[in-house]
Amino acid sequence: TGLITLDNGYGNTGSCQSNICYIDGDNGILRYRGYPIEQLAEQSTFAETAYLLIFGELPGESQLQEFRNQLTEHQFIHEDMLHAFEGFPADAPPMAILSAMINALGCFQPVFMSPDDDDHFMDPAARLMSKVRTIAAASYRKSIGKPMNYPRSDLRYTANFLHQLLSLPHKPYEPDDVVVDALDKLLILHADHEQNCSTSTVRMVGSAQANLYASVAAGVCALWGPLHGGANVAVMEMLQQLHDSGMTPEEYMEKVKNKEAGIRLMGFGHRVYKNFDPRAKIIKQACDNVLDRLGIHDPLLDIAKRLEEVALEDDYFIERKLYPNVDFYSGIIMRAIGIPTNMFTVIFAIGRLPGWISHWREVHMAPAKIDRPRQIYTGAPKRDYVPMDKR
Ligand code: CMC
Repeated sequence: TGLITLDNGYGNTGSCQSNICYIDGDNGILRYRGYPIEQLAEQSTFAETAYLLIFGELPGESQLQEFRNQLTEHQFIHEDMLHAFEGFPADAPPMAILSAMINALGCFQPVFMSPDDDDHFMDPAARLMSKVRTIAAASYRKSIGKPMNYPRSDLRYTANFLHQLLSLPHKPYEPDDVVVDALDKLLILHADHEQNCSTSTVRMVGSAQANLYASVAAGVCALWGPLHGGANVAVMEMLQQLHDSGMTPEEYMEKVKNKEAGIRLMGFGHRVYKNFDPRAKIIKQACDNVLDRLGIHDPLLDIAKRLEEVALEDDYFIERKLYPNVDFYSGIIMRAIGIPTNMFTVIFAIGRLPGWISHWREVHMAPAKIDRPRQIYTGAPKRDYVPMDKR
């Protein structure tokens, strides 16, 4: 079978060819389909960026309108699926519900699709994006013991999500431009990131010709982990812990450097970015703007900024090239706009969905080859079976 090379954690293995997302980790460059992330975050909307990722080009006016219409058309989930929500315990993590329900969606939707036909593929792409948003909001409503808010056709994607999440019977959610724009920007910044753990998972599951829903459900599970998308929750827990205990950032940093109980500075470090994460730069700036415009002073932001200052001057972090990543400041924005902490990773999932869909599509448009890595075997050499009475 030839020589097999070990590449622990796939640090240097190109698992596929892809024309969706470009990253230059040394220079902090991220582009979707060639467009710099800074320009998309500033000028695009999440729906438009999703279209770009999935279909490869920025949409014309009528294409974008058609995509938006389909997002609205597919926003309801089958009433039978609502019963499935009732089966989860009240404290079920929304990421668990999200993954299970996305897989269940595949039982209610046509799973047969033609990935290479743009006109045809708009329907399943919009269907999944729209329904995932409704499921995500419903999973939160379930976790607080409240009935779901039905989606509204007069609201666009992001505002509609905030309504479904936050409307109360006596106080419907009124979209606020600052809040909607901030969330839209966050979703754009999360929309794709080439072969990260969850996207590689979607591609690998998809490479076995598994359907879109099953493949994306697997991606949600990968994203849930604290070293990946779950880091945005872990960052807030870390900041809150510092705030409540009165421990100074300097004291916490000593623990991190001594690797006490394996703790890490959450929201720091990245496999690919070794100088800065361009998304973190944009989010830090957005964080200041949003809190300013909403008139909020969040002591956790002060702690985060101090941690960053300490880290950037410390040899431990300098030598290892550890900088703030996308998760370091995103939680503070989400908290400021009223999103509960247990929904942070779900928001990441909603944002990453267009990326997952486009990668699944790319896998299905390429000549089919199942992903099947090899291994270096480190187990026992051949030995003979020992009968029970001789062990
Ligand atoms: N705090 C303290 N030390 C760290 C950190 C950190 N956040 N990240 C890496 N290190 C150290 C690590 O202990 C190791 O040190 P040593 O050489 O002494 O053993 C060295 O830096 C290299 O770390 P690694 O784990 O081999 O690096 P990796 O490329 O495998 O891991 C990472 C990348 C993002 C998983 C890691 O930096 C990490 O755990 N960060 C904290 C979790 C986090 O913020 N994750 C979000 C990543 S960005 C968004 C996403 O992908 O979802």
